[in-house]
Amino acid sequence: MAAVLLLYSSREGQTRRICECMAEVIREEGGEARILSLADPDLVQAAADSERLIVGASIHYGRLPTELYRFIAENCALIEARANAFFCVNLTARKPGKDTPEGSAYMRKFLKKSPWRPMRLAVFAGALYYTRYAWYDRMMIRLIMWITGGPTDPRRDVEFTDWDQVRRVARAWLKT
Ligand SMILES: Cc1cc2nc3c(=O)[nH]c(=O)nc-3n(C[C@H](O)[C@H](O)[C@H](O)COP(=O)(O)O)c2cc1C
Repeated sequence: MAAVLLLYSSREGQTRRICECMAEVIREEGGEARILSLADPDLVQAAADSERLIVGASIHYGRLPTELYRFIAENCALIEARANAFFCVNLTARKPGKDTPEGSAYMRKFLKKSPWRPMRLAVFAGALYYTRYAWYDRMMIRLIMWITGGPTDPRRDVEFTDWDQVRRVARAWLKT
């Protein structure tokens, strides 16, 4: 089976964990999987050596990271020469209907902005790590959660990621 490279940009580690879960599925199915950060200096060589690419990134204050757009701008042809997929992680996706490429405003924005047209797309709910956030971020996220009807107790971390969805998506992407 093709060697899959999973690339991630992750601030609190959830997107990386999703990549690890996908890599586990790939290995269970007999494939090879390698995980690298989008900030890794070996990034381009590793992408060139892979047969399939999966890229994941998370939303902070409404945006995907600059390093994601830089990687795409500099390597679009390389990405599109392989089977490729993109997933986005955010907390809005904890709500039904917002965890699909069609239902996610972040994914629509990404598709408008990106010259890369991924062959496969997915949107996953992330996690709230109140206990790890710096003061300003904790206050801002609490405010957003209060406005959107989410958990606001700063002593409790909450994981919204649907791991069955992650495994289902990874298996489906392997078949294409
Ligand atoms: C400072 C901060 C800002 C965030 N802004 C948004 C946002 O605008 N929209 C959203 O849906 N989720 C937002 N989130 C939630 C993250 O996307 C979510 O926690 C995700 O799991 C982070 O993934 P990562 O750990 O891989 O970076 C924010 C989280 C933090 C800490």
